[in-house]
Amino acid sequence: PVTRYYDLVISRTELAPDGLLTEVFTVNKQYPAPIIHANKGDRIVAKVTNHLGKSEPTAMHWHGMFQRGTNWFDGVVGMTQCPIPDDVSFVYDFSTGKQAGTFWYHAHTRAQFAEGIRGPLIIHDPDDPYREKYDLEYVVTLSDWYHDAIAELLEIRSRPNYVGRYNCSAAPEGSKCRKDNPLAVYKFESGKKYRLRIINTSALVHYIFSIDSHPLTIIEADGSYTKPYTVNRLPIGIGQRYSVIVKADQKVDNYWIRATIDSRCILSNNETINFDSAINYNVTGILRYFGAEKIDPTTSAFTDELPTCLGVPQNVLKLLRPEKVPEPVTDNILFNITIRPDEHNVTLAFVNNSSFVGDKYNPTLKQLAMHEIKSINELPRKRNAYALENPDGVVDITILNANGGIHPFHLHGHNFYVLGTGPGLVVDKSQLNLVDPFPRDVFVVNGTSWAVFRFKTNNAGVWSFHCHIEFHVEMGMIAQIVELPKEISKLKLPQATLDLCKKYSSFKSSFP
Ligand code: C2O
Ligand code: CU
Repeated sequence: PVTRYYDLVISRTELAPDGLLTEVFTVNKQYPAPIIHANKGDRIVAKVTNHLGKSEPTAMHWHGMFQRGTNWFDGVVGMTQCPIPDDVSFVYDFSTGKQAGTFWYHAHTRAQFAEGIRGPLIIHDPDDPYREKYDLEYVVTLSDWYHDAIAELLEIRSRPNYVGRYNCSAAPEGSKCRKDNPLAVYKFESGKKYRLRIINTSALVHYIFSIDSHPLTIIEADGSYTKPYTVNRLPIGIGQRYSVIVKADQKVDNYWIRATIDSRCILSNNETINFDSAINYNVTGILRYFGAEKIDPTTSAFTDELPTCLGVPQNVLKLLRPEKVPEPVTDNILFNITIRPDEHNVTLAFVNNSSFVGDKYNPTLKQLAMHEIKSINELPRKRNAYALENPDGVVDITILNANGGIHPFHLHGHNFYVLGTGPGLVVDKSQLNLVDPFPRDVFVVNGTSWAVFRFKTNNAGVWSFHCHIEFHVEMGMIAQIVELPKEISKLKLPQATLDLCKKYSSFKSSFP
């Protein structure tokens, strides 16, 4: 294993991701952010420098990385660290351990990832069991895009105002808009096989990904190898990743790559959002064979039925190398999810009737590790903390989604086996798969439905559990899992983590 150094400078840059020139929060002036590459077992040292200006703090999360023994580099403001103030650098330093596959990194504060701070994190596997099955690989990031400042959208609990190639005739007067904004082109050589690593980095939308005339064979999901499973359309929830193998076995030509937004899957406060007409529900790119003319494709989409909003059905995903489901269960956590107006008539999201409010000045990890508190019972209720005390315990998280909308739930520090899901708010035990459930780190729970996730307590730390719809995060749909608090109290936090809190306490943020 080697150490991979990355320098990530966060700043504001004028870019036109969809044709309309706007201010983008960029990493090294790029959008999407640059790809971070490492091999399995490598150590990643990433220096994040905040040059956002306007007193805007930030932090970086490495989505899907277990951060075993390095909880303080998980990047969650208010849980594992204080924010990085303007003009300050913070060095994240963690091992990729035994993990390999497709991951991503993104800001984990104030919806900044929707402003642009999101990029792929690829852990290559020298022992990749599929290595002989493909010749080359590409990364595909899918994302929604917003022209209004996210902070404003959050206030009006809003809706995307644009996704895809922008219809410039709808652009505000005086703005700079390029009508024929170039589409992403992926070049394929006839006869070769490609691994596409597809990441849904959206703040709000679930995508259905497809390439005309080219079926997709799934081989990896959220960092676990699957038995090969072929689909024409790949539904991909927010935060989820898939690797698929695509054969360049069609005639030399151009083919549409489609990332379709299913409006049925976007609900806000129980109502389907009405997009304005400038919205493109069919974000497209081009698969171009070497030797094909440089023109837009004229191909048509697969005609099979659209998959549901819930992603690839859990029961078709099978681990390539089966694992034994951990037993017996030692801990149960129940999360009741609702969205409703609070006592001031502000619509918020609630986990067990409590809408999350963190403390940026005093992250939970620091409070526990520095013995500022003895147990999580001393935390305010709004911190939504749940302790897991049993070393080598087995936890079942049961979600009762009493809200009508779908929620892609994500856990930090672990993968969880999805034991089952079903309609209604009563778990049907006969529907639980204890034989070969698939582990992942994001699972999309349907509206008014239950789901049960299982994992082992073997990673001491404060781990965020939240819906990955950024608007719901900001509404408080978050809990923190405090895993093995006894061990946390023995942790020695790096000096840099403590220093960051000192710097932040004297920093005048323009935000609450
Ligand atoms: Cu992708 Cu809590 O994050
Ligand atoms: Cu949600």
